[in-house]
Amino acid sequence: MYTAAVLTVSDRSFRGERPDGAGPLAASLLEAAGYHVLETALVPDEQPDIEAALIRLSGLAALVITTGGTGFSPRDVTPEATLAVCERMVPGIPEAMRAASLAVTPRAMLSRAAAGIRGRSLIINLPGSPKAAKENLEAVLPTLEHGLSMLLGGPTDCYVP
Ligand code: MTE
Repeated sequence: MYTAAVLTVSDRSFRGERPDGAGPLAASLLEAAGYHVLETALVPDEQPDIEAALIRLSGLAALVITTGGTGFSPRDVTPEATLAVCERMVPGIPEAMRAASLAVTPRAMLSRAAAGIRGRSLIINLPGSPKAAKENLEAVLPTLEHGLSMLLGGPTDCYVP
């Protein structure tokens, strides 16, 4: 069982103007997949706040999922914060999320979500709507365990019998 943390990035939820739907939904999907969710956190769309939260949570959990701030609005900076704190990027994860999501809506191409590795933690951005967050997470969730086992020193056999 791997540990996980969920970071919601939303000005409106941070100000109490909109309940956080995507964060709790991502946490429940992770729990259902066998992850132990250590923490859910909420920050506004401020790059320094997002970076500080990612640095802290990636020190706690093997998997850090963010929701929100991946679109085109001038305050959407979650991917930039993720790039700034990761040592190695994992482009295949957002590629897979966008490929699966394009079958649902052409607007999937508007998500700038990123994924990367900081230390011994994998950080993955999801869009902010609960529906989009669920569709994106479900596209990659079954494959993450193998990546985490490589990252954390578990079985590393890439060959599927
Ligand atoms: N992906 C899926 N699977 N389903 C969706 O409805 N919405 C898109 C996209 N990805 C969507 C999706 C839209 S409309 C936007 S603007 C981007 O995610 C970014 O969302 P965010 O700004 O809430 O992070």
